[in-house]
Amino acid sequence: MLTVLILFLIIPILIFLLWYRHYYIPYKVFSRLGIAHPPVEPFTGNVNGILRQGIIESLNNDIKKYGKVFGWYIGTDKWMIVADTNMLREIFIKSSDHFNQRPDSPIISIARDDLPPGLIFLKKDEWKVIKPIVTPSFSAKKLKLMSPLIERSCSSLKERFAEICESKKSSDLFDVFGQFTMETVLGAAFGSQVNVLKGEGDSLTEAAAGMLAEATINQLLWGYIIMSHFSSIVNILLTIGSSLYSTKLKRGFAFLAKFGFRLIKERRQTASSLQNKDFLQLLMDARSPPEGGGAASNNVKDSLSDKEIVGLCIDFMLAGYETTKNTMSYISYLLAINDEKQETLCTAIDEYYQENEYASLYDASHDIQYLDWVVSEGLRMYPPVSRIVRDCCDDCVINGVQFIKESKVQVPVQYLHYSPEHWDRPDEFIPERFSPEGKEGRHPLCYVPFGYGQRSCIGMRFALMEIKMALTAVLRDFKFEISSDTQIPLKLTQGITQYPTDGVYLKIIKR
Ligand code: HEM
Repeated sequence: MLTVLILFLIIPILIFLLWYRHYYIPYKVFSRLGIAHPPVEPFTGNVNGILRQGIIESLNNDIKKYGKVFGWYIGTDKWMIVADTNMLREIFIKSSDHFNQRPDSPIISIARDDLPPGLIFLKKDEWKVIKPIVTPSFSAKKLKLMSPLIERSCSSLKERFAEICESKKSSDLFDVFGQFTMETVLGAAFGSQVNVLKGEGDSLTEAAAGMLAEATINQLLWGYIIMSHFSSIVNILLTIGSSLYSTKLKRGFAFLAKFGFRLIKERRQTASSLQNKDFLQLLMDARSPPEGGGAASNNVKDSLSDKEIVGLCIDFMLAGYETTKNTMSYISYLLAINDEKQETLCTAIDEYYQENEYASLYDASHDIQYLDWVVSEGLRMYPPVSRIVRDCCDDCVINGVQFIKESKVQVPVQYLHYSPEHWDRPDEFIPERFSPEGKEGRHPLCYVPFGYGQRSCIGMRFALMEIKMALTAVLRDFKFEISSDTQIPLKLTQGITQYPTDGVYLKIIKR
């Protein structure tokens, strides 16, 4: 009797409830609001379609089919895709208060334990308190003080390039720039002196490498699906997930946190603040701007706690490592396959040094205009962050479209950077399009490698300083050249950032 009851009554009711809760109800929202979306599949929503095509191709195809504003279901989460530049101006600037935070990353939340979420994943009310205290650490003056640290790594990079040049073989520059960026990121965050480019390593470098390993879009999307369906038991799932998947990530976080706390303690005891020019020290010394100092005048907090300082330093490493490493790899590839542009850049560097013989690397990289155009065009063609994601925090109507609270907004950066509506010959590498004449009349929201508005990239100046200094240093003596194993075009993988799947193999030749 009981078996019959279970088979014919309880199981069908359970199936019906699951179908109703996880399929019928969640997937009606966009249609009710008149928002177009691709057909959904149970449980996953649109994810299978996205994974089948690849996320960038999916975005491009769906924009063609459904227009510049449409919906995706990721699990049961509602994501609005917005590729309309006027609507983006509203979202990033005029109505930014509704969109001023990012969704939790399923992978990072697994591993952080009790460390505060730095700036990237900080919810908007807490972010408003912390951001004004952090901002002065990224001023041009403070960053210039950090330039000797980068200059030191640039010298090691040149030595490494000399070895590659001598070998007459190609080398994976994605790997070499990875070591360069690891060295600078550890130096900038924690004042580390380890010379990763010369093959030195320590437990700090090992922990950072474990933490900074790339996650693919498949892992991320599956994380989002699980979070969307099971938000009520998400902590249990995250705990299980953490033991199964992210031990390396977790260990990396734990080690860096311990390292950071110890360093703060040591520095407080020795009062050595003047010798240290890294973010840890800048944040230890950071105080809320005084009354009348703009956005922070009514700040309830005067300084940062030790946990916040360490959380922020780890955040800068997470945000700055892959993005910078990828950008440098892409630009070297673009210069190698566009040799006449590389020649123009080398000439600009030579001419600068003829007129300014003793200029520092910092000044040279800051002053050479063509270098700025090359880097900007590299970031247009290969934005490391190919999609920007924000939370919608309130129900609101933007340019006639209803956005619902707790949905997410996704900005297809790669699509915007190639849209023929904004760019002439978008597939070509043309640094001159970033000259003052080239930029004239262009919509500002069609170029967003660092995002836009209040929550745009706080590390932009630091990243540009590092990339330009490294390029100036190496191009004074060397050039990038393609070889038989250079993959053209580059195959890309979409993860937290967009990175070259098989590395970037190039030869280095003497100029
Ligand atoms: C080429 C290198 C880089 C690129 C392309 C890049 C890109 C981005 C993008 C697209 C965002 C999101 C912006 C938005 O939502 O509007 C972002 C945020 C952020 N980036 Fe970067 N980034 C780079 C390097 C760095 C570096 C070196 C650091 C730290 C030293 C850094 C720290 C951050 C932080 C903390 C945020 C969150 C800001 C906030 O929410 O207030 N980034 N970045």
